[in-house]
Amino acid sequence: MTERRPKVVFEGLSKSFPQKSGVRLSVLEDVDLTVEEGELICLLGPSGCGKSTLLNIAGGFEAPTSGSVSIDGVKVDAPHPRRVFVFQEFGIFPWASVWDNVVLGIRALPGEQQTEIAQGVIDLVGLTGFERTYPMALSGGMKQRVEVARALAVSPDVIYMDEPFGALDSLTRLTMRSELIRIWEERRPTILFVTHDVDEAVQLAERVVVFSARPGRIAGEVPIDLPHPRDLGSPEYGSVKNRLYELLGVSHLI
Ligand SMILES: Nc1ncnc2c1ncn2[C@@H]1O[C@H](COP(=O)(O)OP(=O)(O)O)[C@@H](O)[C@H]1O
Ligand SMILES: [Mg+2]
Repeated sequence: MTERRPKVVFEGLSKSFPQKSGVRLSVLEDVDLTVEEGELICLLGPSGCGKSTLLNIAGGFEAPTSGSVSIDGVKVDAPHPRRVFVFQEFGIFPWASVWDNVVLGIRALPGEQQTEIAQGVIDLVGLTGFERTYPMALSGGMKQRVEVARALAVSPDVIYMDEPFGALDSLTRLTMRSELIRIWEERRPTILFVTHDVDEAVQLAERVVVFSARPGRIAGEVPIDLPHPRDLGSPEYGSVKNRLYELLGVSHLI
């Protein structure tokens, strides 16, 4: 394995929000985490533990209350066009074709380059032949492929994925996970993938970081050194899942 270097570094990061009562709601506490370049890391935790807040801070949309996030050693203090988000709600524009949605972020480039990049990412996500199709005519999984293509088009520094497959049916979700792995193996972007789904984390990640219930603190992390595609019935898979349930504090329920 090639040597990796730190890409996204969270240091002593805490976040609280003011509430009407005057008491501040503590959402994240003292998060220290180093994500390496080209890593596919899953941040796993129960709903409301601050996962989206963490990504928003890493994307420069929210400021931390204390601590910091830096990317390539530079503190994040504003959004940047090469830090891209892929959400669960479809963020693609219904009035634009697949092609036009994908080139949105690269319109400043010369036309030839736009064409080359857009066709490359459209082919990569498996939408060849649908370039002129409008979102209305696409399935949920295909719309999500458009989102991923659009994210990849800008040669992102970091991709933040916030429960991106949560709205898809379970079979499409499985397909999209394996598609994501294929794309990640080909391009090796740095991906911070947020989920509350243990199976999803175990299917995708090289490393899973588990957060406690709010205020979100890192409860532990589990490296997953299993090859892709992962054998979901293997004993190794089962033991990683058990460890994650332990860290989530729900192993007695399983
Ligand atoms: N802008 C905000 N103002 C006040 N409270 C917020 C804001 N954003 C998030 N919260 C609160 O922070 C907590 C964590 O939210 P969130 O980061 O969305 O959790 P998760 O993504 O893990 O489900 C929730 O209780 C939510 O209501
Ligand atoms: Mg969330």
